[in-house]
Amino acid sequence: MCPGTSLNTSIPQKKTPWSDTVNPKLTRRRFIKAAIFTGAAASSGAGWYMASAQSRQQGAVERLVSLNINGRTRRVDVAPQETLAHTLRYRLNLTGTKLGCNRGECGSCTVIVEGTTHYACSTLTHSVKGKEVTTVEGLRAADGTLHPVQQAFVDELSPQCGFCTPGQVMSAVALLNTNPRPSREEARQAMAGNLCRCGAYDHYLNGVMRASGQLS
Ligand code: FES
Ligand code: FES
Repeated sequence: MCPGTSLNTSIPQKKTPWSDTVNPKLTRRRFIKAAIFTGAAASSGAGWYMASAQSRQQGAVERLVSLNINGRTRRVDVAPQETLAHTLRYRLNLTGTKLGCNRGECGSCTVIVEGTTHYACSTLTHSVKGKEVTTVEGLRAADGTLHPVQQAFVDELSPQCGFCTPGQVMSAVALLNTNPRPSREEARQAMAGNLCRCGAYDHYLNGVMRASGQLS
């Protein structure tokens, strides 16, 4: 139950006629516009409220944790049920990790934890304490040079809208770290957890093959 919601129904409430509460300038078109523009903020606010409420109930959990993100130690206040995607995006401002489905289906939130790809939306932040986490922001060299996979994706024009690209990059990097010259079929299987709404799968596969030096 939300705070402010009363269970006491014995006190009669004065009802305002519906027609008195409606702004005559509120047309259906204006209503839909307002819903679209405020929907994201409202939903992220609700998520934050739920995480905070849960943390209050389980106050015994240590919230201030040290995370190893892209080679840097980050001290951050983390709610007990908070996902890594939430922590990265909304506490550490690492917004390269995208949130698509937020339920482990699309792969747009893919990060590398201890060398293995993980869906950050389905990984509790507390479970990666002390582990090496790499996000797409951690791939570029200090002088700004792109990671070979990023450069290969650029060369092959892999991204279309680009929303799935960070996840595709992370899956490709994890693959080539363990299998530097994969067959196209091996690459296809390694990238299978990353959905692309634009259908640019062949472009991404070409990028993987180019990054592995098998395309000239
Ligand atoms: S946002 Fe994590 S898998 Fe879709
Ligand atoms: S490039 Fe648009 S979702 Fe993949």
